[in-house]
Amino acid sequence: MRFDSHRVVITAAGRDFGRTLAIHLADLGAEVFLSARTLAAAEHVRDEIRGRGHQQVHAFACDLTDPASIRDFAADVTQRTDHIDVLINNGSRYLESPDLQSASDADVIDTIASGATGTVLTVKNFLPLLLNSDKPDVVTMVSACGTAGHHRSDAHEAFYAAKSAQTGFAEILSKRLRPQGVRVISLYPPDFDNPDPLSEEWETTPREAKNALTAQSLVECILFAVAQPRDCFIKAFHFEQV
Ligand SMILES: NC(=O)c1ccc[n+]([C@@H]2O[C@H](COP(=O)([O-])OP(=O)(O)OC[C@H]3O[C@@H](n4cnc5c(N)ncnc54)[C@H](OP(=O)(O)O)[C@@H]3O)[C@@H](O)[C@H]2O)c1
Repeated sequence: MRFDSHRVVITAAGRDFGRTLAIHLADLGAEVFLSARTLAAAEHVRDEIRGRGHQQVHAFACDLTDPASIRDFAADVTQRTDHIDVLINNGSRYLESPDLQSASDADVIDTIASGATGTVLTVKNFLPLLLNSDKPDVVTMVSACGTAGHHRSDAHEAFYAAKSAQTGFAEILSKRLRPQGVRVISLYPPDFDNPDPLSEEWETTPREAKNALTAQSLVECILFAVAQPRDCFIKAFHFEQV
């Protein structure tokens, strides 16, 4: 399927999975509004996408821990379009270490602010543009850490807290936005391999039952959910771990 009629906002697209999504959606014809914490990182990915022959791509700075930065991002996008069709909440700081005492207070605040508060404020600020769409979707990259009882990650407790907050937010949002036709689609992956989409590895990464989940499969899950007819509200993707 092509996504030529889709206008997509993606947070934290300066590297890793956000960049992967931005490149793939642009390849499929979507107009992409991508942000990264620094404008330079966002512009770098924008230029990579333009280099592939897609001119409908725009770069913005957005620090998800800073409400003014999120507001400015939404305001800048609003200057360029009267609607967006898909908002992808990809950004969230990772914090390693299964030891509560190991992280500074500042790291705890930053981790929860980027994943939890940042996601809520991003949806809040982009909702007016989504409601102008005839096919609005909110996609959130949560994590297996956001599912009740999960304990298999070495992530810090603050990361578990941030991801659990995203889960609670997405749950209630899905119910409350359904009457307005907004689908709220959340993914709960365990650790996944994220090869560079512009490298040969993207095509050669093993994707057998014995292998870890790949970014390739996650991209396909998102495209599948967004491509469904509007009666089909896929709420969540959960994955069996290896
Ligand atoms: N990779 C996995 O195995 C895995 C598993 C489950 C869920 N997920 C989730 O999937 C999403 C993407 O994963 P990933 O592997 O690409 O993540 P990642 O490699 O840890 O990168 C995190 C991204 O979030 C950005 N970020 C951090 N703090 C930010 C802030 N304050 N404002 C704006 N952006 C900020 C980073 O930008 P900078 O470049 O500026 O640091 C980076 O782009 C995340 O939500 C992650 O939690 C990942």
